[in-house]
Amino acid sequence: MGQIKACLFDLDGVIVDTAKYHYIAWRELAAELGFEFTEEDNERLKGVSRMTSLNILLEIGGVTLSDEEKLRLAEKKNENYRTFILKMQPDEILPGAEAFLKELKAQGIKIALGSASKNAMTILDRLQLTDLFEAIIDGTKVTEAKPDPEVFLKGAEALGVNPDECVVFEDAEAGVEAALAGNMRCVGIGSPDVLGKANIVVDGLHQMNYEKLMELN
Ligand code: G6P
Ligand code: MG
Repeated sequence: MGQIKACLFDLDGVIVDTAKYHYIAWRELAAELGFEFTEEDNERLKGVSRMTSLNILLEIGGVTLSDEEKLRLAEKKNENYRTFILKMQPDEILPGAEAFLKELKAQGIKIALGSASKNAMTILDRLQLTDLFEAIIDGTKVTEAKPDPEVFLKGAEALGVNPDECVVFEDAEAGVEAALAGNMRCVGIGSPDVLGKANIVVDGLHQMNYEKLMELN
C-alpha cells in the first residue's frame, strides 16, 4: 500500500442520514401496493441502487410487475423522496463529518465522493458541502453498483491518485467490499458485525481525525 493521499466518502449513512427519508418513501410505496415494509427490511436497501432496492421491496411484498411499471414506481418513489431531501438543512450533517473533511483539506489530503445515489449533488448542495469535494462520482456516473469498485476507482482517477493511496469511508457491506476489491483501505462506519472486513470500524466520523487516519499508513 502507498502513502495515504486521498479519502473517498460514501454519502448516505456516512455524511448524512438519508436512510430515514428513503424508508418513509419506500414504506409509502409498499402501503400503496398493499403490504408492510419494516425498518428492518429497510436495512437491506443500504448502499443498494434505486432499481435493486425496488426489486428487493417487491420481493418482500411478493409482487411481480412489468419493467415499465417498475420504472414508473421507482420514479414515483424518487419524487416522494426528493420532497424530503429538498428540505434538508446543514444541521443534518452527521456529527464530526464537516470538521473531519475540513481537517483533511487543511492537511492536503484529497477528497472525493463515491455514492450510488443519483441525488448526491442535490444533497451536497442542500448541506452546503459541495465545495469541499474535489471530485464527485455519483449514481449518474457509474454503470456498475457496489460491490463493484467502479465508483471508487473513478474517484481515485479523478483525483489523480493510485487506488492504494486511498482510504474509503463506508457504512454498507457492499461498499466495504467495493473498496477492498479496488485495492483501497477502508474505514467502516457502523457495526463491526456487518463491516468486519474493513481495516477499522468506527461509530461515525466524529471518531476520526487526521492522526487516526495516518495510523492506517
Ligand atoms: C445510496 C443509499 C441507497 C440508495 C442509493 C440510490 O447507496 O444507501 O439506499 O438506494 O444510494 O439512491 P438514489 O438517491 O439514486 O435513489
Ligand atoms: Mg451508505
